[in-house]
Amino acid sequence: FHVPKAVNEPIKSYAPGTPERESVLRQYKEFYNSKVDIPLYINGEEIRTGNTRTMSPPHEHQHVLGEYHLAEKSHVEKAISTALEAREKWAALTWEQRAAIFLRAADLIAGPYRDKMNAATMLVQSKNIFQAEIDSACEIVDFLRFNVQYMTQIYNDQPISSEGIWNRVEYRPLEGFVYAVSPFNFTAIAGNLPASAALMGNVVVWKPSDSQIFSAKVIVDVFKEAGVPDGVINVVYGDPAMITDTVLASPDFSGIHFTGSTTVFKNIWQKIGNNIHNYKTYPRIVGETGGKDFIIAHPSAKPKQVATAISRGAFEFQGQKCSAASRVYLPKSIAEETLNFVKEDVASFKMGSPEDMGNFITAVIHEGSFNKLESYINKAKESNEADVIIGGKCDKSVGYFIEPTVILTTNPQYETMTTELFGPVVTVYVYEDQKWSETLKLVDRTSEYALTGAIFSNDRYTIEEATQALQNCAGNFYINDKPTGAVVGQQPFGGARASGTNDKAGSPLNLLRWVSPRLIKETF
Ligand code: ALA
Repeated sequence: FHVPKAVNEPIKSYAPGTPERESVLRQYKEFYNSKVDIPLYINGEEIRTGNTRTMSPPHEHQHVLGEYHLAEKSHVEKAISTALEAREKWAALTWEQRAAIFLRAADLIAGPYRDKMNAATMLVQSKNIFQAEIDSACEIVDFLRFNVQYMTQIYNDQPISSEGIWNRVEYRPLEGFVYAVSPFNFTAIAGNLPASAALMGNVVVWKPSDSQIFSAKVIVDVFKEAGVPDGVINVVYGDPAMITDTVLASPDFSGIHFTGSTTVFKNIWQKIGNNIHNYKTYPRIVGETGGKDFIIAHPSAKPKQVATAISRGAFEFQGQKCSAASRVYLPKSIAEETLNFVKEDVASFKMGSPEDMGNFITAVIHEGSFNKLESYINKAKESNEADVIIGGKCDKSVGYFIEPTVILTTNPQYETMTTELFGPVVTVYVYEDQKWSETLKLVDRTSEYALTGAIFSNDRYTIEEATQALQNCAGNFYINDKPTGAVVGQQPFGGARASGTNDKAGSPLNLLRWVSPRLIKETF
C-alpha cells in the first residue's frame, strides 16, 4: 500500500508586492461583490429551497455577501436516502481510487482553488490572510494528504498468519452513513470532518456551521471537481436541531464526526443514547469540543517568552480557537515584567478588516459572540475580584471588534478563569512563587476541559513535575511553547474530559473510527 509521502504544504508569505498578495486580494474583492446564492447539495444536485438567509462579513455586518438556502426536513431525509443509495458503489471502490480523489482535492486547493479558499475564509470568518492561509490552504491540504498516508498505514496493519492459515483484515466502512457537523472557526476542520470519513469509504451528510457556509461552498466545488461521486457527501444547512433530530432518527445513522460546543455535543450524545434501540449498529461518536486552555509559568521561566506565548496564544485568530490560551498562572516574581511585555505586544497589534493585510486582529464571528464577550469584559471592569488591565474596548458599529483584552483576577476560580469565552480575552492569576506545586493542582481542578495547555520553565525537575501533575489536563501539552498551532502530521490534535473524545484529528486513531474491520481467516 504505497502513496506519495505526505509533507506539510509550505505557507506562502503574501509579502507586499508579491503576485500572490495581489491575486488573493483580487479574489477577495470579487467575492465581496458577488452576491452569491448558495444551494444545498444533495446527490450532486444544487437544491434551492427559496427559504434563504443572508451572509455578511463579521467585520462589516451591513454588507450583504449573498444568501444560502435552508433545508426542510424532507431535504435532510433526501440527503440520507441519497447517501445510502451511493454507499454500495462508493464502499466497493478500491482504496487507490478514493485516495486519488482526495489527493487531487489537495492539489486543487494548493493550486487553482487556493485564492478562493483563502478569500472566502477571510470574508466570512474574518481571518487575515496569514490566518486564512494556515487554515484554508495549508491545514486542509495537510489533512487530505496525511490522511491518505495514514489510511495506507491502517491497511498495512495485518495479523500474523502461518503455514496453512491466512489471516487478513478488511478495513470496511461503517454500515450506514456518517453525520459530519463542523464549526465556523476552521475551514480545514470543516473540510476534514466529511472528507476523512468519506476517504475510508463512508457516505456522509454534512452540516457546516451557519457562519462558514461561503467557504464550505468552495470546498464542495473542490470535492466535485476532484471527482467525489454524487451522493457521497451531501450538504445541508438550516435549523440545527431539526437537521440533527432527522439524522439521528434514521436507523442507518452509524457515526458522528463533530467539532463544536460541549453543550451541543453532550446533547447529541444523549439523543443517540435515547435512540440506541433503533440503530442497526452502535454509532461511532467522535467529537472535539470546548477548551479552557492554560499557560502556567514557573519562576525560572523567561518573561519575554511567556509574554509572546500569551499574546500569540490568546489573541491570534481573535482567540477563536478551541486551543487558545484563556487562563494564565504567573508567579509573582515575573508577573509584572511578563505583563509589560504583553502590553507592548498588544500595542503593536493593528485591528480592522482582513482586507488590510497589516491587521493582526479582525472581528469576532457574530453579534452573539460579541455581546457575550462584551458582557464578561464589563463585568470584570466592575468586579472587586478582577480588573481589565489591557484592552477592553468593544465596538460593533461597523464590525464585531473586541480589543485584545487581559483580565487580572485575585480569584483563581473567577468566572473568566473557568468559562470558555471563545474570543480575544485572557485571564491572568498571579500566584506566590513558593506555591508552585499547589498551583499545578489548582490548574488541574479548575477546569472541566482538557484540550491544550503549556508550561514554561527552565528547570528540568519542575518541567517533569508539571508534566506528571497535569497529565489529565491537556490532550496537547506544550513545554516552553504556546498552546496553539498544532500542525497535521506533527502534533496530532485533540483533548479529553469535556473537550472531546480525543480521537486526534489528522491521525490513524481518527481514521480507525470510520472503519468496521472484518477479519477473514482462510485455511489451505
Ligand atoms: N489546530 C489548531 C491549533 O492547534 C486548533 O491551534
